[in-house]
Amino acid sequence: MGYEDCIEFLKTRRSVRRFKSDPVSDELILKILDIARLAPSAGNRQPWEFIIVKDPGVKEKLARVHAWTGPLGRAPLGIVVVGDKEVSPVSYQVDCANATMYIMLAAHAYGLGTVWLQTLRNVEDIQRILGLPENKVPVALLAVGWPDEKPVAKSRKELKDIVHVDRYGNLLKKW
Ligand SMILES: Cc1cc2nc3c(=O)[nH]c(=O)nc-3n(C[C@H](O)[C@H](O)[C@H](O)COP(=O)(O)O)c2cc1C
Repeated sequence: MGYEDCIEFLKTRRSVRRFKSDPVSDELILKILDIARLAPSAGNRQPWEFIIVKDPGVKEKLARVHAWTGPLGRAPLGIVVVGDKEVSPVSYQVDCANATMYIMLAAHAYGLGTVWLQTLRNVEDIQRILGLPENKVPVALLAVGWPDEKPVAKSRKELKDIVHVDRYGNLLKKW
């Protein structure tokens, strides 16, 4: 795989919210989580743990946590990325975000679709559903499955509006 293929791979990831009912094997899920372990973290503290959610009752409860978690109800499984705020009090959220992106990219490499579902407004509800202790925060929830849609690329801000040179405010477009 040349660098152009790698760039194309990154450009073709999309959030997938519709999934086929086909199961995803445990072996494949574990291969993906094995890659997630390689994400960078502050001091290499790796403050993450992963919960694979396949039980329909638990999955359904998580799919109803708020108005935008619905895609989990249509997915064969979810993965919750749990951060330990005692292991890495300053960085656990960004560390876990890195692990989450690794999961999303590894899943994309295997042809699986994922969408990140917000958890940080409903931490206590999710802790209750999953039996998490207070120091374990659900940083991300991913719906995972074989894609049943081909979403078009969402628009992004232009570089000229978000890149500054040397000092904030010295935007690329003024350069
Ligand atoms: C922190 C975070 C929270 C998100 N929460 C939700 C969510 O609750 N429900 C949802 O359908 N998508 C959610 N998304 C997915 C975004 O809507 C999506 O990444 C964005 O629209 C860009 O689309 P793309 O991923 O296809 O490029 C979330 C993404 C992130 C990073």
